[in-house]
Amino acid sequence: MLSLGIETTCDETACAIVRDGFEILGASISSQVDLHAQFGGVVPELACRRHIEVIAPLLVQTLKEAHITLDEIDLVSVASGPGLIGALLIGITFAKGLAWTLKKPLVGVNHIEAHLYASMMSCGRENLQFPALGVVLSGGHTSLVLIEDIGRYTLIGQTVDDAIGEAFDKVARIMELPYPGGPHIEALAECALEPNFSFPAGVVKACPYYFSFSGIKTAVLYHVGRGGGPSKLVAQDKQMIARAFQEAVFSDLFEKIKRTIAVYPVRAIYFGGGVTQNKELRRRGGLELSLPLFFPMKDMSLDNGAMIAGLGWHVWKRTEQDRLFTLEPETRIPFHR
Ligand code: KG4
Ligand code: ZN
Repeated sequence: MLSLGIETTCDETACAIVRDGFEILGASISSQVDLHAQFGGVVPELACRRHIEVIAPLLVQTLKEAHITLDEIDLVSVASGPGLIGALLIGITFAKGLAWTLKKPLVGVNHIEAHLYASMMSCGRENLQFPALGVVLSGGHTSLVLIEDIGRYTLIGQTVDDAIGEAFDKVARIMELPYPGGPHIEALAECALEPNFSFPAGVVKACPYYFSFSGIKTAVLYHVGRGGGPSKLVAQDKQMIARAFQEAVFSDLFEKIKRTIAVYPVRAIYFGGGVTQNKELRRRGGLELSLPLFFPMKDMSLDNGAMIAGLGWHVWKRTEQDRLFTLEPETRIPFHR
């Protein structure tokens, strides 16, 4: 069964065609990073306009790459949330139009769930192990999720304020680094000397599996302020701040993952979201966690269409429910649905 995946939740327009949930036949992404970089973050109105401009040509390009024609598609899968309302509407409206024209079923896919599915797709159908722990590390979400099976999740913990990727972006902004900040922080941290200072990890009282990243961002802000502001930072200062920041967030993350796997009997850990591109995260994960770890393969950490197409196939298999007339965008979706 060929599933077409459409992703427009935020600032990436993406399409992909996936066979039976796992085999990627074609995938295209149009990133809007350059468009938003000058504003230091995503401008929703601009994101929507760009989605409208590129979505149809992107579909044509994806079909070409997959060597298939539109009428060979069996299922249309679209990310229906969480995300920016206008951006979601464009993807969903486009997907509905296509499904209607092709007389094929339409399913909605949870974008966050799809980030976790990206690493399941990458590990391959025959290597999937459940129950597992899912760790979502994206620009908008940070969650620990118990995965009983694809489609059966229980939220264990999440952030009470900033998401982990958002913290990377905000710390980068404090140091006047380009948006998105994650890759810049990583690059700086890689060449840093051992910092002679540290930043505190966020503690959420009585919630051992919950995260708080806004305090660490404020600690970085004060640290930079004490040094006379961002313009006074020399390269070495920036490198050490980046390293100390990364050290603090990853230590906190691994501490909470270890707490979780000590209590929940999971057999593997699936990581998802843009922050999983970080090499230090992957290195420390391999050293500190004693379970099989799965990360998204190349081009599947950030927002992409393949994770939507792949997971859409599972949604269809499970529900067989055509959502053509009922699917609505949901800017927030609880995890267990
Ligand atoms: O998952 P994603 O595409 O966005 C959401 O769905 O929210 O992830 C984007 C986030 C941004 O915050 C970006 O700074 C972060 O992923 N990111 C990284 C790295 N590459 C991207 N964070 C840390 N290290 C990286 N190498
Ligand atoms: Zn995402």
